[in-house]
Amino acid sequence: MDTVSLSGKELAAAINADTKARTAALAADGPAPQLALIVANDDPASSWYVNSLRKAAERLGIGCDTVDLGADASVDALRAELAARSADPATDAIMLQTPLPAGVTLDDVSSSITSTKDVDGVSPLSLGLLASNLDGFVPATSEAVVELLKHHEIPLAGRHIAVVGRSNIVGKPLAQLLLAENATVTVCHSRTTDLPSVTAATDIVVAAAGRIGLVTGKHIREGAIVIDVGTNEAPDGKIVGDVDADSVRDKAAALSPVPGGVGPVTTALLMRHVVTAAENARRA
Ligand SMILES: NC(=O)c1ccc[n+]([C@@H]2O[C@H](COP(=O)([O-])OP(=O)(O)OC[C@H]3O[C@@H](n4cnc5c(N)ncnc54)[C@H](OP(=O)(O)O)[C@@H]3O)[C@@H](O)[C@H]2O)c1
Repeated sequence: MDTVSLSGKELAAAINADTKARTAALAADGPAPQLALIVANDDPASSWYVNSLRKAAERLGIGCDTVDLGADASVDALRAELAARSADPATDAIMLQTPLPAGVTLDDVSSSITSTKDVDGVSPLSLGLLASNLDGFVPATSEAVVELLKHHEIPLAGRHIAVVGRSNIVGKPLAQLLLAENATVTVCHSRTTDLPSVTAATDIVVAAAGRIGLVTGKHIREGAIVIDVGTNEAPDGKIVGDVDADSVRDKAAALSPVPGGVGPVTTALLMRHVVTAAENARRA
């Protein structure tokens, strides 16, 4: 079977063109939108992502202030920085990069991000709004998966979709978004018994576990759609996904590449959220 590659580049370019125009309109009438990127780790995959976000912001005319609190930052230091940025009128948007320091969870600190600046939708209020189908910022990676599927005209209503991963920033919000599209959703995790038979019973498999090569040909049925959210650093330093592309390619109808699939759409949506936050702040 010829497996179609579900590239995210064209969709990202279209989103970015709109964001750039909206950014220019704001900058013509006041300061450019401003993102605060808070980092507290020394993880290579994270620094690769932070660099790509900085470059994306620069290309679009968005100001990006990276604050590195160090891999041993305390809960108090993180909360204080997030609260200060939440109160700072010059900051339109806040993104907290993961992983966090050992012993610190997102739940410990995310409530210090005000929901109006929470462009990656990680705060309890943002997640609650999503679960209630109310307006708010949605985690960009989860939104990117849905937008990528729609861009490639893959129907979601009535389809059975397996989401592998249940984190608060990817798997769970994605399940909510897919439910809102009227899909039937099965959420899998590290305690799922017999993962291959669960995922192989579905039409679409989304791999978001952070495990290199977790999803193989035996995890999918013939003709399935496979979305690879994974962004993992391989031993040779390359960024690779969660899907064993070689074994899946013989069976899948379509597969999103890593890099070049979900990643560029995620970055584009995050930047779109930054501009939306800035527009909302100017209107307030
Ligand atoms: N492309 C992008 O723009 C983008 C953005 C953000 C994240 N990511 C990537 O997406 C992946 C997931 O990120 P995350 O932050 O959600 O990771 P996470 O917080 O570590 O969560 C991983 C999830 O995968 C599940 N899991 C782990 N091993 C599994 C296994 N063997 N079988 C089934 N489920 C398993 C875990 O189950 P338990 O809950 O049982 O532990 C957990 O729910 C990572 O590779 C990350 O780098 C990509």
